[in-house]
Amino acid sequence: MANAMQNIGACVFDAYGTLFDVAAAAAHCQDDLGGKADALTQIWRTRQLEYSWLRSLMDEYVEFWQITGDGLDYALAALGIDDPSLREKLMNIYMRLDAYPEVADVLNRLRAGGMKTAILSNGSLKMLDSAIDNAGISESLDAVFSVDSVGIYKPHPSVYQMAVDGLNISAVEICFMSSNAWDAAAAANFGFQVVWVNRFGQPHERIPGREEHVIKTLAELPSILGL
Ligand code: LAC
Repeated sequence: MANAMQNIGACVFDAYGTLFDVAAAAAHCQDDLGGKADALTQIWRTRQLEYSWLRSLMDEYVEFWQITGDGLDYALAALGIDDPSLREKLMNIYMRLDAYPEVADVLNRLRAGGMKTAILSNGSLKMLDSAIDNAGISESLDAVFSVDSVGIYKPHPSVYQMAVDGLNISAVEICFMSSNAWDAAAAANFGFQVVWVNRFGQPHERIPGREEHVIKTLAELPSILGL
C-alpha cells in the first residue's frame, strides 16, 4: 500500500467499543428489555464515560466496574426499569462482552507481521482478562494496560504514557486504535499515530488531536500497516 504507516512497532487497542461490543449486553437481553435495548445501551455507555471523566476531575477514582454499574443504574432508572435480576444479568454479560468478529484474525495477522500488540483501557484487569479470555485472544496480546495502575481515566496523558513505558518504545512508534472519537483524538494529541475505527459513522469531536487514518472495522488495519 502506497501510504502505509511507517515505523510502527506496536499496535495498541482501546477495549470497549473497539475490540469488545458494548451493545452486546443489552442485545443479549432483548426479551427482558422489551424494545428498550438500544436506549439502554446508549444511556448506559454515555453515563459510564461521563462518570469516568467526572470522577477524574473530582479526584474520586473508583475502578471501572463500579462506574459501569453506576452508569447502568442510571440508565435503568431513566428508562423506568426496576429489576435487580436483569441488572445482574446485564453486568454478568458485560464482564465477558463479545469481541467484534474480525478481532482474533486481525491480532494474529499483526503478530505474524512482527507487531507487538496490547490493550490500553479504562477497564480493570479483572474485566479485561475476562473479556480477553472469552474472546480467546490472550495468546495474541503482548500486554494489557489498565488505568487502575495510574488511578485516573482516559484521556489523561498518564494513561497513554503507560503504553510507552510498558512497551518501551516511543509514542510515535505506537499505532493506537479506538472507536471512541474522543479517545482517538486524545491519543493523537498525546503523540501516538492513531487509526480511528469509526464503526458508528460519527463526526469528529471538536477537541485537539487528529488521527492518521479512519477505518470502518479493524479488518482494514493490516493493509494500512503494509501487512
Ligand atoms: C476503554 C473505553 C474508553 O476501553 O472504551 O478504555
